[in-house]
Amino acid sequence: MQLINHLKWRYATKKFDPSKDVSELDIEKLKKAIQLSPSSYGLQLYKVLVIKNKVLKEELLPASWNQNQVVDASHLFVFCQYSSVTSKDIDNIINLTAITQNTNFKKLEPYGDFIKSKINEKTDIEKNSWLKAQTYIALTNLLGACAELKIDSCPLEGFDTESYNKILNLSNKGLKATVIAAVGYRHNHDHTIERKKVRKPIDVLFETI
Ligand SMILES: Cc1cc2nc3c(=O)[nH]c(=O)nc-3n(C[C@H](O)[C@H](O)[C@H](O)COP(=O)(O)O)c2cc1C
Repeated sequence: MQLINHLKWRYATKKFDPSKDVSELDIEKLKKAIQLSPSSYGLQLYKVLVIKNKVLKEELLPASWNQNQVVDASHLFVFCQYSSVTSKDIDNIINLTAITQNTNFKKLEPYGDFIKSKINEKTDIEKNSWLKAQTYIALTNLLGACAELKIDSCPLEGFDTESYNKILNLSNKGLKATVIAAVGYRHNHDHTIERKKVRKPIDVLFETI
């Protein structure tokens, strides 16, 4: 199974080679993998910023716990959840579904109403963590896609969300940064390359009932 080999190959890269860039062709493939990620009700209530501008990456460095991956990696993917979810967001996806699947909007409207009612049952805190969770599914697909393309990556939660929101002007766009991923090629001197993967044993991680 190739996926297992890819997952064994990848590791959270600590040192990227700043001289190696990921090609635009591969970046498009990575975007596609994110686009195809599943999401709750298919709503995709997030946006992903892909940053390759070095000046901007350097500006983000202090807000990223000074983790150099942010600057040295070729591209920085910033996953941003919607700050809130509105009826319009649901209508938009119902509309897109109607167009894509050549169905009548009116026929799909009851499903849209169902989604709205289920979301309305959530508290604001629940809505927020639900919106945030969607971005991690996309992150996972990005990491897997990188591994298949033999592109290195490092997911990062070690950053200051508020600073990111400010520097990237996210609040004005109704977005909030949730998690980021540095994407590029490992440096030969990354001392973590040889580290053995640490994972809990299967029988501890799973329980068959
Ligand atoms: C959501 C998330 C956030 C992470 N944040 C950081 C981070 O800020 N800095 C870092 O160096 N690694 C970070 N990591 C990498 C983990 O430490 C790493 O995935 C874990 O130790 C397993 O190692 P492996 O990915 O090399 O197999 C993060 C991983 C995930 C999934």
